[in-house]
Amino acid sequence: MDKLEDIEKAEFIDKDGKNMEISTYDIQFKDVTFAYEKRNVLSNVSFTIPEHTTTAIVGPSGSGKSTICSLIARFYDADKGSVSVGGVNVKALTCDSLLKNISMVFQKVYLFHDTVLNNIRFGKPDASFEEVVEAAKKACCHDFIMGLPDGYETVIGDGGSTLSGGEKQRISIARAMLKNAPVVLLDEATASVDPENEHAIQQAISALVHGKTIIIVAHRLATIQNADQILVVDRGRIVQRGYHEELIKQDGLYKRFLSIRENAEGWSL
Ligand SMILES: Nc1ncnc2c1ncn2[C@@H]1O[C@H](COP(=O)(O)OP(=O)(O)OP(=O)(O)O)[C@@H](O)[C@H]1O
Ligand SMILES: [Mg+2]
Repeated sequence: MDKLEDIEKAEFIDKDGKNMEISTYDIQFKDVTFAYEKRNVLSNVSFTIPEHTTTAIVGPSGSGKSTICSLIARFYDADKGSVSVGGVNVKALTCDSLLKNISMVFQKVYLFHDTVLNNIRFGKPDASFEEVVEAAKKACCHDFIMGLPDGYETVIGDGGSTLSGGEKQRISIARAMLKNAPVVLLDEATASVDPENEHAIQQAISALVHGKTIIIVAHRLATIQNADQILVVDRGRIVQRGYHEELIKQDGLYKRFLSIRENAEGWSL
């Protein structure tokens, strides 16, 4: 009962937010400091992501990459500094008016205990069946969906347990694609995707991000190399920024990071 009461009493994160339309889609962090509990996870993080460009975030595990994405989507609010989208501080917006501009594909994909159709349609509740199928085709999941016992009407187990990690991720890409939002947050899964799936996911992602403002937590060299800007994060701080050709010439974390990846995955530069 105490727990229930806590939930009932909890404040909405967006209680002070207003419904506003955003018309440009650049993203800016100004001196952002954030802690989940007491220890700072992000310290004085500042960067600007111009509209229609791709920014890759790289860095060691636990450095704060996913946290940056969570702050853009306002899952949490910065303790100090500001996060803004289209020049509007996200704290001034309701979650609805912010999130309708953002498509997300996160590391941990959560699917609802519902049909495949409804899981994809969640991105755009009024989408027709044809639109859902079109998004699923672009996200390379139509074929495996047709192979499920009831096709698009197949109910996915709690948390999506009957699908593989790669399949779940592609469903979440289809959902994002259907939503077709101007800002795309992508948190690339690090491991556990087989090469065939990986290729399909890459294809799906490149169809998704066309012409959008993209922030991608990236592990794959191809993604990183093609980014307009790379932010290198270490222990909650941005330690390097620039594009690939610039950063490989510097003696820093980026170069070390790439050589570790290279050894792990047989990359060559
Ligand atoms: N919900 C949470 N509550 C408390 N601490 C958290 C929470 N989420 C993340 N952390 C901590 O914050 C730090 C940064 O986490 P974050 O998930 O942003 O790292 P990351 O760079 O995305 O790592 P990875 O590459 O492993 O995904 C880590 O020390 C992590 O343990
Ligand atoms: Mg992460």
